[in-house]
Amino acid sequence: MPDRRSSPFPPGFLWGAATAAHQVEGDNRASDWWAFEQAGKLPFASGDACRHYQLFEQDFDLAQGWGHNAHRFSIEWSRIEPREGAWDRGALDHYRDVVQALQRRGMEPLVTLHHFTNPAWFTRAGGWSASGSVARFARYVERVADHLKDQVRWWITINEPTVYAKNAFVAGHWPPCRRNDWRAAWRVVRNMGRAHRLAYDILHRHRPDALVGFAHSAPLVVARAPARPLDHLAAGLRDLVLNRLPVRLMAGAFGRRFDFIGLNYYCRTVVHWRATGTAALFGRDWLDDDQDRPRAFSDIGWEIYPPGLKQQLERFAHYGVPLLITENGIATEDEELRTNFLRAHLRALAEALAAGVPVAGYCYWSLMDNFEWSLGMRPRFGLAATDFTSQRRSPRPAAAYFAEVCTNNALPDETGTPTAAVSVSAERAIGTA
Ligand code: FCB
Repeated sequence: MPDRRSSPFPPGFLWGAATAAHQVEGDNRASDWWAFEQAGKLPFASGDACRHYQLFEQDFDLAQGWGHNAHRFSIEWSRIEPREGAWDRGALDHYRDVVQALQRRGMEPLVTLHHFTNPAWFTRAGGWSASGSVARFARYVERVADHLKDQVRWWITINEPTVYAKNAFVAGHWPPCRRNDWRAAWRVVRNMGRAHRLAYDILHRHRPDALVGFAHSAPLVVARAPARPLDHLAAGLRDLVLNRLPVRLMAGAFGRRFDFIGLNYYCRTVVHWRATGTAALFGRDWLDDDQDRPRAFSDIGWEIYPPGLKQQLERFAHYGVPLLITENGIATEDEELRTNFLRAHLRALAEALAAGVPVAGYCYWSLMDNFEWSLGMRPRFGLAATDFTSQRRSPRPAAAYFAEVCTNNALPDETGTPTAAVSVSAERAIGTA
């Protein structure tokens, strides 16, 4: 039995899973991603995805059955405004139904306004690198805020601006597929910062007690050999660009326009200096083991490093606002590893809370397997497996473990139990011991 008296999780701690519209809803025809997929730019397409647009009630039944008291999802701008200035009332009502479906189940809606996808017309008009982008986004936020203000308190304005800018304007593998356009990438991140601050004001005008933040991708960046000045420099620069600047840009010049910071924490990157290539200043990822210390990676090559969650939480606590873990999860087909990943990260979270870091909640990515952007349906992140043909959901063992945590608002006491031995050895392999 968990010892609730000693649980570091305060009453009302938010427990849930996260999704994003384009990854789960299906048939998202007016978005720039749909156009990109239909143009054959990927070997697969989102298609029906998880048909969550139709099946959300049954998906929420699953989450409710697992004791979740919160759920993060995103609103699809291209459904609300499929053509510039043409507002789809039915789509707005749909998201109100989604919010109410969560509330009927005792789950707090954590609503994201922008999660990577845009209306196709917006991208054709220059997307986020265009000067009109901020005003266009603000119009959409006004509509949504006006429609949902009475029901939604928690808002995540924009998901991972730097990841979006990098993939869409530097790496070029997300629409609008621009390569090495650093100037445009800079404009994108700057405009997203402005858009966030405007959205912050709009949401607070509609609802003074709103809690408004953004979701920041927060990898732990370390130097391979910190004593080597060039490794240190490369890691420091990368950390500056990935972790410190984005938060500054969202905050703006005149103080802090966010009520919380959402952290998406998945992995550590170990950086070493290699003075070749275009991005030499930021070093290269070091992927080998070091000094007899095995490292573990997920199916998509992200290093599993649970202590990094505590480190990042402690670090971001310095901004002086509560933190919300808006994403944390693993792509794997090894179910023991998934459960141990979760167990180890929740321990790191518990330690951060016990050390006084103000964390309001934790969302596992994701509720179910879904369309993982340019990697398609192959990465398996879900608490439930999705059969993309029959649309059946099959709960995985990690869902049961997580359900126990959510239900008790405490980690199970595993000392001396047989599972403790399994978890400890697995955690050693994934870098917690
Ligand atoms: C995050 C994204 C989310 C999902 C996970 C695996 O960067 O926000 O949509 O793709 O990674």
